Amino acid sequence: MLGFIGGTGPEGRGLALRFALAGEQIVIGSREADRAIQAAEAIGNVVPAASVQGALNSETARVCDIAFVVIPYAAQKPTLAALRDELAGKIVVVVIAPLAFDKGVARAVTVEQGSAALEAQDLLPQSTIVGAFQNLSADELLRPEKSMNSDVIVCSDDGASKEKVMKLAELIHGTRAVDGGGLANSKYVEDFTALLININRIYKAHSMVKIVGI
Ligand SMILES: NC(=O)c1ccc[n+]([C@@H]2O[C@H](COP(=O)([O-])OP(=O)(O)OC[C@H]3O[C@@H](n4cnc5c(N)ncnc54)[C@H](OP(=O)(O)O)[C@@H]3O)[C@@H](O)[C@H]2O)c1
Repeated sequence: MLGFIGGTGPEGRGLALRFALAGEQIVIGSREADRAIQAAEAIGNVVPAASVQGALNSETARVCDIAFVVIPYAAQKPTLAALRDELAGKIVVVVIAPLAFDKGVARAVTVEQGSAALEAQDLLPQSTIVGAFQNLSADELLRPEKSMNSDVIVCSDDGASKEKVMKLAELIHGTRAVDGGGLANSKYVEDFTALLININRIYKAHSMVKIVGI
């Protein structure tokens, strides 16, 4: 079962929708159970055959096999610190891109540990952290009829967990998983999201990433 911590936001709902379409069991997490249930019902309306439920973040972390962290960077520390026990022994996929906006222009925020994913590893020492999906546009994810036509760069220090998440990434229509190496490389993937957002403003588009030459 895939759990989405903060899954009521566009990125969490978008990823959950795509995984529901691929037949995965989903639990949407929230600070408010009602919001989670509403988000789960909305996915169920689009994918009637889906197994989707909503729950508090703590319950989501407890019941899921793999957790996706889809909250704003500012919320990561308190949220993950409170879920340490529930997430112990599990794969935790950090989707966060730590960004700030100056007059609408995005820039990457400096994280002491190097990246949101590396910070998550400090916060959850008994979990295996994977950084992935940070460059996938929520707007595109939420249009299930559309192929994503994008790569997902997956970084982790644990090879087996990375492979699992790469396989998951390829369940999303039009997505190719790319091995991004160790978790230290998650910084580059997270920071790149700032550039994509600034490109989106210029082209009025939803730009994403494709690696060529491999
Ligand atoms: N949006 C995109 O296109 C996109 C693309 C790539 C990566 N990302 C990354 O994915 C993450 C989620 O993006 P998003 O646009 O879905 O974010 P969001 O809508 O701002 O937040 C997602 C959810 O996080 C929860 N949340 C908000 N503030 C919180 C707090 N202080 N403490 C605990 N939970 C809080 C909320 O859920 P509840 O109120 O229900 O608890 C909210 O629905 C971000 O880190 C972003 O950098 C986003």
